[in-house]
Amino acid sequence: MGFQEEIKRRRTFAIISHPDAGKTTLTEKLLLFGGAIQVAGAVKSNKIKRHATSDFMEIEKQRGISVATSVMAFEYEDLQINILDTPGHQDFAEDTYRTLTAVDSVIVVIDVAKGVETQTEKLVEVCRMRNTPVIVFINKLDREGLDAIDLLDEIESKLGLTVTPLSWPIGMGQRFKGVYNLYEKKLCLFSPHSKQEVDETITITDLNDGRLDKEVGQRPADELREELETVTTVYPDFDETVYRKGALSPVFFGSAVNNFGVKELLDCFIRVAPHPQPRHAEERDVDPFEKKFSGFVFKIHANIDPRHRDRIAFVRICSGTFERNTNYYNVRTGKSMKFSNPTSFMAARKEVIDEAFPGDIVGLYDSGNFKIGDTLTEGEILHFKGIPSFSPEQFRYVNNANPLKSKQLAKGIEQLMDEGVAQLFTREDTGRQIIGTVGSLQFDVIQYRLEHEYGASCHYEPVSLHKACWVSSTKPEAIRELMQKRKKDLAQDKDGRLVFLAESAWMLRMAQENFPNVEFHFTSEL
Ligand code: G4P
Repeated sequence: MGFQEEIKRRRTFAIISHPDAGKTTLTEKLLLFGGAIQVAGAVKSNKIKRHATSDFMEIEKQRGISVATSVMAFEYEDLQINILDTPGHQDFAEDTYRTLTAVDSVIVVIDVAKGVETQTEKLVEVCRMRNTPVIVFINKLDREGLDAIDLLDEIESKLGLTVTPLSWPIGMGQRFKGVYNLYEKKLCLFSPHSKQEVDETITITDLNDGRLDKEVGQRPADELREELETVTTVYPDFDETVYRKGALSPVFFGSAVNNFGVKELLDCFIRVAPHPQPRHAEERDVDPFEKKFSGFVFKIHANIDPRHRDRIAFVRICSGTFERNTNYYNVRTGKSMKFSNPTSFMAARKEVIDEAFPGDIVGLYDSGNFKIGDTLTEGEILHFKGIPSFSPEQFRYVNNANPLKSKQLAKGIEQLMDEGVAQLFTREDTGRQIIGTVGSLQFDVIQYRLEHEYGASCHYEPVSLHKACWVSSTKPEAIRELMQKRKKDLAQDKDGRLVFLAESAWMLRMAQENFPNVEFHFTSEL
């Protein structure tokens, strides 16, 4: 197969959801369709995480598992599908956000009973910033839930997405009969006990077809006709081009655990989801079809076992062919690097590969040379954009608990921050160090890893902060004024960029009003 065909047949995406909405179940069903796993229950990572986050040995075990499930690749209808896992439970971290910078599209799973929940809001915000195409799957229709129209309203208002349903539920919970697939003009019948691989479908192009009443009952059929009349007038027609620009999201309804609606979702996905897309670098846009290799590190996974200090850097390939045992240039360090064991991730299996193509994720063994955001090329100076740090939500002072080990502590903190585990801010006035994270588990992980990998110990002290915002201005005097008047609220991030530490939403608003010439940013990419 030629280079161009290899790129065109790749689909790299992430499934995102609030915990418990059904991401793991849906992932598993997709892998079953792709033949990547044979039995349900093979994708366990999230389940284990949910129960065992206070036990650090468990964290260690999970890290092993989550390397394996970080990327799951499978073949379906001649396409190579790469699913990137977005950790979503108590270990919700910046990693989760950053993974979204390495995909070309996203499927959002929403629990029909719970509607839009907080983590989904945060993740979709990142997708919107990047105009990532989004497909929505509303799950658990076998249970009672919110009215479908109300749900779509909520998705539009809370997630800021413009939606158009491509399937429509007929009842829900006990009365759930199935869905009408508007995309393929088919009736898909639900039978709760069969969990069959493929749903029973009947092609019904005309909704007045008497077979509809026969299959689902007259009342549900009439309700469906009525609802679809509203749906087709209220929502725009589906347009693939608008979807690919991230401006229109098709919505499907189903029940992942019953394998219902999943095939329709997958079949639509492979038809409409984009193949690897051009990536923006500071210097220029990089097209995947360019012959020369380029890629960037979006995630670093450390081995917690001190006897094996190696890490795996996850690289998204942006252009050209990546080859084993070939020298590549790390733009940040200026060093040439060669990889003898690059790894691909076919489902839960790791494999050494000889080559990989745009859209693929390769795992590179690393002994501490990589930082998040690093670019690899054949020599060209490129800096890929869109791998920002995001404002953390939880903050603590970090103090050295063993003065004899201060060097170890500094080194440990530096390396963990390079891995992107959390962010470090150094206060302008006192020089005190604050660690900021997205999820609270990260504090425990950092403490544990500092002790076990670096022989350093730290303790935390609470600090009441709401957000950290990167500040910039076209007028240098505006920054000078901010420095003079608000030094106690300023800090530097690990790359020396100036950050405003807001104690509350109100304080942030006041600062924005008082310093109109200063811009406050919620990500580090200004
Ligand atoms: P997550 O990765 O988003 O956190 O969700 P996960 O797939 O683990 O699903 C969370 C729970 O929801 C699981 O139940 C799962 O079986 C259930 N679930 C997923 N899809 C559906 C669906 O379509 N209908 C219904 N009724 N339930 C669904 P659990 O009790 O936590 O685990 P398990 O014992 O069933 O494995």
